[in-house]
Amino acid sequence: EKSGFDHFMLKEIHEQPKAITDTYRGRLVRQEAIIKMAGIEDNMKKFLNADRIIIVACGTSWHAGLVAEYIFEDLARIPVEVEYASEFRYRNPIITEKDVIIAISQSGETADTLAAIKLAKSKGAFVFGVCNVVGSSIARETHAGAYTHAGPEIGVASTKAFTTQITVLTLMALRLSRAKGTISSSDFRRHLLELEMIPAKVEESLKSDAHIREISEIYKDASNFLYLGRGYNFPVALEGALKLKEISYIHAEGYPAAEMKHGPIALIDENMPIVVIATKKGHYEKVVSNIQEIKSRKGKIIGIVTKGDTQVRELADHVIEVPETLESLSPLLNTIPLQLLSYHIAVMLGKNVDQPRNLAKSVTVE
Ligand code: F6R
Repeated sequence: EKSGFDHFMLKEIHEQPKAITDTYRGRLVRQEAIIKMAGIEDNMKKFLNADRIIIVACGTSWHAGLVAEYIFEDLARIPVEVEYASEFRYRNPIITEKDVIIAISQSGETADTLAAIKLAKSKGAFVFGVCNVVGSSIARETHAGAYTHAGPEIGVASTKAFTTQITVLTLMALRLSRAKGTISSSDFRRHLLELEMIPAKVEESLKSDAHIREISEIYKDASNFLYLGRGYNFPVALEGALKLKEISYIHAEGYPAAEMKHGPIALIDENMPIVVIATKKGHYEKVVSNIQEIKSRKGKIIGIVTKGDTQVRELADHVIEVPETLESLSPLLNTIPLQLLSYHIAVMLGKNVDQPRNLAKSVTVE
């Protein structure tokens, strides 16, 4: 049931305020300034004694894992590695009983992720699942876990699963940082407060829809796109590029903005649209200078900016505003315009948005 939306993908994009709320409901208790997650409480020792966390996942879930790497290291000061499940399982990886594995999967049925979990378990590691589908194979195979509560995701291109995965992983990182004492109580409270404001801010970000449609019209015939971001938003750039590839079949690549000068800058000319995540906080000035480099090579700049921004607005061909938030939570907002951009371009090109060619909702073969 598409509830009046043209596609499941659009419906699911619009469901994100509710999905994110459902994900933190009962876990984030702001009045008491606590986070309650049974899967963490029951296994607190394992997390606190971990030498490192290894995140295994595929595709969009892997991108959520990359965002989690920033937040776990930043807040909880636990070393994190993020691995493609398909590479990890065949690499003869070094895993010990002191490793905690976090497996992220919307469907809970991804063959490579499941195999990586079995491998890690066989080496004695503790495996924690972040799944959306209740009772799925991965949910059953892991020692403990936390569900995302995004509700069914029908569109093949993952949207609300991604933002709710980031929400769960953020809650986990916050809970662990409190237990470890790596976050001050005021910082912790500020995170809880800001996280509770995210659904309303996602709602506000969705209001750029008509403006994003206009931008989509201008660039829908481009044959390549670049997506750039730094820090917490580097994985968001990767995810933006993946969304565009999947449903519009336009070639797109995501890069850390500073890596541009080590090669991809050679691609830039007046025909190259470049989506730059340039929200305030998080290397803003550096990203502005990256934008200047692009501009001097005549690339077309679509900036994702914080509401009220003037500096990027002066340089960019287009800007899409999102509300201000903490840097650590900014992926939850910056992802929204990128989802809408790929959606509108794909629709304008007449593609089958909900069921892109060659793709299946869950990849149960390796
Ligand atoms: C992207 C997409 C895929 C999945 C990947 C992992 O939009 O849908 O890249 O993210 O196949 O799937 P799960 O999360 O079900 O393990």
